[in-house]
Amino acid sequence: MTRTLPNLLITAACAMASLPAAADLALATAKNCMSCHHLDKKVVGPAYKDVAAKYRGDKAAAARLAAKVMEGGGGVWGVVKMPSNPQVSEAEAKKLVAWVLSQ
Ligand code: HEC
Repeated sequence: MTRTLPNLLITAACAMASLPAAADLALATAKNCMSCHHLDKKVVGPAYKDVAAKYRGDKAAAARLAAKVMEGGGGVWGVVKMPSNPQVSEAEAKKLVAWVLSQ
């Protein structure tokens, strides 16, 4: 019995660790991101895979992009600006950007 509980916790932690990608896609869909973005092709905004490739190795990118997701902005990918996303909290913006950068 003393060994069962820790094992259960480890199993639960592993199950959760394999879920975030799906959970974050659901969050991105719920927060309307996917109406302008696609994982691997440009729609209104850049493909998330292209965003990840562009900022690979840029340690400051995550914080900068999280702020941009909330406030909106343009000038990086073309003439179209991203509108602000007031439906996204700072924690959600950071989570979404981490997910985008992991594509
Ligand atoms: C109305 C369309 C639209 C929506 C909705 C939208 N985006 Fe964007 N997004 C854009 C456009 C257009 C750009 C390119 C802006 C630029 O060129 O700087 C962009 C750029 C980005 C970038 C890269 C920014 C950069 O400076 O390289 C990220 C990351 C991003 N969006 C994430 C998100 C997330 C997360 C959401 C959901 C909360 C979201 N977007 C919702 C249109 C949108």
